[in-house]
Amino acid sequence: MKVLITGGAGFIGQHLARRLVTDGHELVALDHLLGQVHLDPEASVAAFPGEVIVGDVADEEAWASLPDVDAVVHLAAETGTGQSMYEVDRYRRVNIGGTELAGRFAAAQGAPIVALSSRAVYGEGRHGCPEHGVTFGAVCCDRATAEDSQEGDEHRPVSVYGETKSEGERALDGVTAQIPVTTIRPQNVIGPGQALHNPYTGVLAAFLAMLKEGKPLTVYGEGTQTRDFIHVQDLAAIIAWALTNPGDIGTHRVFNAGSGVRTTLVELADHAASGAPIETHGITHLDIHRAGDIDDACADMSAVAAAGAPMPQWSTRDAVADFIRSSWEKPGAPADAWDKALGELKERGLTS
Ligand code: UD1
Repeated sequence: MKVLITGGAGFIGQHLARRLVTDGHELVALDHLLGQVHLDPEASVAAFPGEVIVGDVADEEAWASLPDVDAVVHLAAETGTGQSMYEVDRYRRVNIGGTELAGRFAAAQGAPIVALSSRAVYGEGRHGCPEHGVTFGAVCCDRATAEDSQEGDEHRPVSVYGETKSEGERALDGVTAQIPVTTIRPQNVIGPGQALHNPYTGVLAAFLAMLKEGKPLTVYGEGTQTRDFIHVQDLAAIIAWALTNPGDIGTHRVFNAGSGVRTTLVELADHAASGAPIETHGITHLDIHRAGDIDDACADMSAVAAAGAPMPQWSTRDAVADFIRSSWEKPGAPADAWDKALGELKERGLTS
């Protein structure tokens, strides 16, 4: 079938595209090729196995120029948690407005849509407590323990990014009467091809830059905060499955996408250091908290398993090592670019 991938020239899009082409699908991408993400836009276009139409998903006219397709995968989004706290309009426009237009386009085509949201919609997520039972969002007391997030859990985003992802999901509700709609909520996605020069992207790209410069890894706070890291190939497998098993009209299907394993930032730093081909210099703790950051994240993957979707294959340690190995020789931003990004948050009073 002919598949439109918005954000197809990006990190997740390129992995998904290679997989879908191998499965015999024809592809077209709609991508803005933004400088913050694409160091070399021409190379991104050349790597995509199909036509790339340059356009902004939040721009109605961009959708008018697209060919007819059989299915839509909507990946295009602004993704920086910290940056979202001050670039509010930009994040709302792309992540909510862009998703609404993607849904409208898919419905007009009669094409199923698979859209990427984020685990950020859960905020601090689910906690279990002997005194207060199951709670969502702010932690009730020190007897509560973090539990894996389930797809039906309440949305309690703590960042503008998380809010835009939550509202973006709602923007697709309106088309469920016309086409099958699937929303996937990835945890922290890592792997080869991740943007290395964008200091608004994830912690692992920051650790790579520090390792390459022989610097200690900067961990914000104690490093006991957890994340769930999924290898990009495992995420691509779930998206590809959702595309060929589109579900029913009338329901908005939602699936988590994580490894289902909690990793603390200190453990992540250790995995990253062991993947580095040179001597490493431990960790520096910085006593700082970025507005919008959460303490705990981990996906409950039982609904994904029950639906028969492919379960993640990569262990976190191997996924981190794969990222470090494949990215070591590639150009990226210097480590101090992340210090500057943090400085921007500080100036705006978005750290404590
Ligand atoms: C990330 C993604 C987001 C995705 C979400 C899903 C980015 C920018 N954001 O958000 O798109 O939807 O996962 O869970 O990729 N930290 C350090 N040292 C550093 C940098 C960060 O200790 O040098 C800490 C942060 O304070 C935070 C943790 O690492 O506690 C993870 O931060 P980060 O990777 O930036 O993003 P998430 O908020 O997890």
